[in-house]
Amino acid sequence: MKTVAVYPGTFDPITNGHVDLIKRAASIYPKVIVLVAADTRKECMFTMDERVNMVREGVDKLCPNVQVEPFQGLLVEIVKKYGAKIILRGLRAVSDFEYESQMALMNRRLEKGIETFFMISSEEYAYLSSSFVKEIAGLGGDVSTMVPAGVDKELRKRFFKV
Ligand code: COA
Repeated sequence: MKTVAVYPGTFDPITNGHVDLIKRAASIYPKVIVLVAADTRKECMFTMDERVNMVREGVDKLCPNVQVEPFQGLLVEIVKKYGAKIILRGLRAVSDFEYESQMALMNRRLEKGIETFFMISSEEYAYLSSSFVKEIAGLGGDVSTMVPAGVDKELRKRFFKV
């Protein structure tokens, strides 16, 4: 049976840091499912469809073993539905650790057989976040090296109607 790993997140929007992690994961696991969350504590700028499409555009051609799906509800339930036992999360800095370890422990408490595996970000993306990208793009800054081309285009449309 193929090992399936899921990579959940809000992806509002996907950045090159996420893409880098997905590519690295896809070179290890036979199948990676990127799960785009509907319910989070965050208020998203992009709709679910927009976020899913941007993730698909950003990774589809790069990795044939990556599938991108929206999800709603408890993560562990969706992970089980896809027959997976591995949740992947990225760690950029020590500051990510507290939130990530809480989430990993809570998910394991909810479902014993599911493990969270952490991947350290590549150095060039260690300071990147979706919020920074939105802030910089909204103020007219150049984010073209931080996000896939489709996301750059969407951000310009959103903020400057071009
Ligand atoms: N490169 C660049 N940025 C990265 C990154 C990387 N490798 N890894 C994370 N980030 C950034 C994201 O851009 C994001 O930045 P932002 O805060 O500015 O938006 C931040 O780190 C974390 O975002 P993300 O990875 O999308 O995670 P999240 O915290 O938004 O998502 C869910 C959390 C969706 C996984 C979680 O809320 C969930 O599982 N929800 C479902 C409901 C559930 O089961 N809840 C119980 C959980 S115990």
